[in-house]
Amino acid sequence: MNLREEDYLRYIYELSLAYGATHTSQLAKILNIAQSSVVDALDHLNKKHYIVYEKRFQIILTDEGRKEALKSIRKHELAEVLLMNVLGLSWDECDDESMLMEHGITDKIAIAIERITGAKRCPHGNPIPDKNLVIGKIPDTSLLDVTGSCIIFSVVYEDKHILQFLNSVSIFPDTSLIVTGKSDNHLVVDKDNVEITIPIEIAKVIRVTQSI
Ligand SMILES: [Fe+2]
Repeated sequence: MNLREEDYLRYIYELSLAYGATHTSQLAKILNIAQSSVVDALDHLNKKHYIVYEKRFQIILTDEGRKEALKSIRKHELAEVLLMNVLGLSWDECDDESMLMEHGITDKIAIAIERITGAKRCPHGNPIPDKNLVIGKIPDTSLLDVTGSCIIFSVVYEDKHILQFLNSVSIFPDTSLIVTGKSDNHLVVDKDNVEITIPIEIAKVIRVTQSI
């Protein structure tokens, strides 16, 4: 994968949201890129004042870095909306495919996609930053924290394997679930009287709204 600066910033934003922090080694592992290449890219972003390092090499976006990440997220998510809602790609294909397309999305095209589709959230439930880069709130509660009923809001780390798994068990934004059990590795949920086992690593990146 040949990542551009804006891709790195978007991943740092996403991973920080999903896991609370991003580290160089974690970024290299998740993106399947040599750590030396990630370090080079991050040094470049650091020189441009888009990121700073905190204790134990934790990567933090600066205000300017966050702004660039949100610009990239806007284009990426609107490309996903176009690919899924208009061109008919599947839920788990559109994230990967939008990686190339998003770089051709100009501000004018972004506004046109918004106008035609009316989309406010990407197919995976995450709010799309508006043209002023204002972004809606994502609930803080993850599926892992739930003890009873909940409604899926979004998948904050849009990894192909996670999306494929959720597609295979038909868990999408607005799906209602009841958490019925938990072990060290899995969460057990009930969806329309069907029992589904979800790996902890996947449950961790799913945000939900609690229902009563
Ligand atoms: Fe998405």
